[in-house]
Amino acid sequence: MIIAIDGPAASGKGTLARRLADHFKLRHLDTGLTYRAVAAALLAKGLPLGDESVAIEIAQHLDLAQMDKSVLSAHEIGEAASRIAVLGGLREELVNLQRKFAETPPGAVMDGRDIGTVVCPHATVKLFVTASPEARARRRTDEMISKGNDASYASVLEDLKRRDERDSQRTVAPLKQADDAVLLDTTEMDIEAAFEAAVDIVSKAA
Ligand code: C5P
Repeated sequence: MIIAIDGPAASGKGTLARRLADHFKLRHLDTGLTYRAVAAALLAKGLPLGDESVAIEIAQHLDLAQMDKSVLSAHEIGEAASRIAVLGGLREELVNLQRKFAETPPGAVMDGRDIGTVVCPHATVKLFVTASPEARARRRTDEMISKGNDASYASVLEDLKRRDERDSQRTVAPLKQADDAVLLDTTEMDIEAAFEAAVDIVSKAA
């Protein structure tokens, strides 16, 4: 069983994916972390983000079990990840790695931008999770403040819009709802309501 979850930044897809994996006893891969891990390695080496051959080499040695979300969730790593995510050859390398993970029994919950369209087009069920930019910016700002970080709603909103634009306008594997994905708009939902709605969608499809 493969559950594909796509959606823009801060839509709540990560939390939903983790909870669905728990609920349906599946493994979970946050594919955004694979882009972040490659970006972080390039930044750490002081290499330009456009150096695709080095990026591919880093991807070939990537160990999914070693990706540390607490380190990789830094804002500047997210920005760098969305810049390298336009590199077609790098995407191919990461997509192969992601597919292997998804296809290992008993299956997985995969979240990202292109899971339903490119990585797992034959997933058992596909969800496209979204919310208005304002709702996503509010949640992201509250989350940053609760972790003791400085955050301004206006600049978070601007960042999200810029990242949405870059992710949906790129030519390779843009952020896009698959034709057979079910849309889950969480603008007016809290996480419990969103989780219940997602379980319902998956149960009907599985
Ligand atoms: O989801 P997250 O914010 O961690 O993703 C970081 C960046 O990685 C995104 O902005 C996007 O450009 C890229 N990404 C992607 N395809 C995926 C997952 C993430 O292009 N499947």
